[in-house]
Amino acid sequence: MQLPNHNKLAIPRVFPSISISMMPPALTALISQVVALMGLGLVAVLVSQFEMELSLEPLLWGLMEGIFAALVGHYLGMDRWWLPINLIFVPAILLVLAMDLSPLWFLGAFLLLLLVYGKVYRTQVPLYLSSGEAIEAVASLLPKDSGFSFVDLGSGCGGLLQQLNKVRPDGTYHGIEAAPLPFILSKCRSLFGVSDWRVSWGDFWQMDLSQHDVVYAYLSPVPMALLWRKVRKEMRPGSILISNSFVVPGIEPEITLKLGDFGGSTLYLWRI
Ligand SMILES: C[S@@+](CC[C@H](N)C(=O)[O-])C[C@H]1O[C@@H](n2cnc3c(N)ncnc32)[C@H](O)[C@@H]1O
Repeated sequence: MQLPNHNKLAIPRVFPSISISMMPPALTALISQVVALMGLGLVAVLVSQFEMELSLEPLLWGLMEGIFAALVGHYLGMDRWWLPINLIFVPAILLVLAMDLSPLWFLGAFLLLLLVYGKVYRTQVPLYLSSGEAIEAVASLLPKDSGFSFVDLGSGCGGLLQQLNKVRPDGTYHGIEAAPLPFILSKCRSLFGVSDWRVSWGDFWQMDLSQHDVVYAYLSPVPMALLWRKVRKEMRPGSILISNSFVVPGIEPEITLKLGDFGGSTLYLWRI
């Protein structure tokens, strides 16, 4: 899975001192929608000025807005997979509004998304879980000697830690997670399950990695260069970094393991 890295276009006249590449993609998407809505407003004004008849269904207006927004997003350099999101955003809102649902559903969905993905705006690392194949492969890369310490940076719902602890109970397992709901789920799993692992709530950038022999990261392309700098600074010689799916730019891994899972993931291992 490729996540948005950077948008490349500079827009010097609108923002003299910043370029689009500095903006989180969600903000670029918002700008695309606003520009498209303004464009559509302009079309409506022009049509009324020339006293032309243009009576379209709201959904068709929505689709026109979506096409504008997709084009603007493309012009602003957004990754290709944002285009369908920009395209269907307003039509989807119109369709859902037509369903006349209770506002509580929207509040509930908003709160749920906030508790799971609320920090993605800043971290650019959403929640998706390591596959069973990835967990098996990670287990095969663990140190042969017992007593090692393993940490999962951004441990999600704790499934990887729980499984590893089952197959290699001779290590100690830690997780750190920033999103509230996955953290609460994993905390409950760690407290009430039979296996022995720990998870804490926090930001892994503030965590000292020197205590750990194995650091596992399943993040996104965005933080990998910075993570490598942290790992090089803090981890002890001989310890290992395993990344699921995302490489450290310019640094050749010691081991590359292609997995046959649904997402076609690859594990990369670097020895410090
Ligand atoms: C792709 S998921 C991986 C989940 C789990 N490690 C797994 O392999 O199944 C990445 C997780 O990292 C968390 N995360 C992202 N940035 C973080 C940070 N700075 N500190 C702690 N957790 C973070 C996200 O909330 C998300 O749950």
